[in-house]
Amino acid sequence: MSDQVIIFDTTLRDGEQALRASLTVKEKLQIAFALQRLGVDVMEVGFPISSPGDFESVQTIAKEIKDSRVCALARALPKDIDAAAQALKVAEAFRIHTFISTSTIHVESKLKRSFDAVLEMGVNAVKYARNFTDDVEFSCEDAGRTPIDNLCRMVEEAIKAGATTINIPDTVGYTLPSEFGGIIQTLFKRVPNIDQAIISVHCHDDLGMSVANSITAVENGARQIECTVNGIGERAGNCSLEEVVMILHTRKQRMGLATNIRPVEISRTSQLVSQLCNMPIQANKAIVGANAFSHSSGIHQDGVLKAQNTYEIITPESVGLLTNKLNLTSRSGRHVIQHRMQALGYRDSDYDIEALYTSFLALADKKGQVFDYDLEALLFFSKVNDQPEYYKLENISVLSGSGLVATATVTMTIGDQPKIVEAATGNGPIDAAYQCLMRITGLDINMDNYHISAKGEGKDALGQVDIVATYKGQRFHGLGLSTDIIESSAKAMVHVMNHIHLAQAVAEQKKDRLNIDQV
Ligand code: KIV
Ligand code: ZN
Repeated sequence: MSDQVIIFDTTLRDGEQALRASLTVKEKLQIAFALQRLGVDVMEVGFPISSPGDFESVQTIAKEIKDSRVCALARALPKDIDAAAQALKVAEAFRIHTFISTSTIHVESKLKRSFDAVLEMGVNAVKYARNFTDDVEFSCEDAGRTPIDNLCRMVEEAIKAGATTINIPDTVGYTLPSEFGGIIQTLFKRVPNIDQAIISVHCHDDLGMSVANSITAVENGARQIECTVNGIGERAGNCSLEEVVMILHTRKQRMGLATNIRPVEISRTSQLVSQLCNMPIQANKAIVGANAFSHSSGIHQDGVLKAQNTYEIITPESVGLLTNKLNLTSRSGRHVIQHRMQALGYRDSDYDIEALYTSFLALADKKGQVFDYDLEALLFFSKVNDQPEYYKLENISVLSGSGLVATATVTMTIGDQPKIVEAATGNGPIDAAYQCLMRITGLDINMDNYHISAKGEGKDALGQVDIVATYKGQRFHGLGLSTDIIESSAKAMVHVMNHIHLAQAVAEQKKDRLNIDQV
């Protein structure tokens, strides 16, 4: 048996069908290119019979993708298979994926047919699809809850009819890993022609077992895993691509299995899917969550600085992240602070670690996370939080609406200068406010991340805006709170601007200190 596991990505079919708003053809194509770069063997990109839009996107992707096999879904009906074949025929290499339910509950309640009638429909669908391609995948929907005798019969007949891949979905995410592994094992024991097809699995995550089930399946002989980027998909989602791939990669010595995925592409593909699908990634999500490689505990931080593998089983670089993150919080030890200071260009003799660490702890208790610019500021200004605001937002008003160009008018003071009033237009009210603030201050700031959340309940809730922005290559964090989200957005930007001012003051002092040191 081959030691290669085929990665069948269904982000653009099972994943996309679960989104609140469908993706445009252009967005789907962007994701398809990212999946191709990532190295997926097969990408399932839609269900062409379901809408003209889906047909068009499958056809467009089929035309453009050259290095992965493009696949489309079809029920076990000739009209569905015709639509899939029509949309796919422009592809360099394509697969038709046809399916029918086989569990008793689906056969009786949904299809209202006998199992024998369903078996015949499945067989006919496979034979029909073979008229268009010799790469036909057949899925027994709800296989996880299908009586094993029926499942064995269906699989044997579908292979006889010409299916080259047989997919065993745990459609409702119900089976335990031991049960699911048992199903795959039984199929290998009891289906006489099983060696003539690749056995695939497609697991949903309703009980959080999709990845474990997929891994157990390959341990029992399956050689294709169906999955989605970030695990998006129906209800609780599908088996997550990055997780199964990194399990196979990290535990290669034990499992002896390989994929064609380039792990270094994982991070950016995940970000792209999250952004285009408007599906934020939970911070503690394995492999791609914002905290997946960040260490908060002082003991862990100290360990990672001594040897990365003390608390990291995979490196952030291997999935395309540049560095791990040591969050500077009140749990960080002196060693971590010294390490950060070194990275910022200071020698141990440039500062008194005890004094710095004491003021660091006081700031961390107030602020939660301490950033590099805070740390440097502590060195030069003993009371960072008590610094007077250099940039002060006095007033903001915004005019916006459908068909209107958003315009913001801002009144601000800078240091002890008289008030400045400025107006600017933008791509929406927040952008107009930011353009205005940048025009007044002359700071050219790049927004990396904008996050808004409600603080409190119901109509009394406050809008909290958290932004991360870059100025001349350095990253700054800003926070704004108000009942008016435009005002909280503006306050967050002014907060960033004040941090930039502080960092500039620090840079001046640092220059002076270095000059003094050099003399
Ligand atoms: O979950 C499922 O059973 C499916 C099939 C169409 C493969 O998505
Ligand atoms: Zn599914």
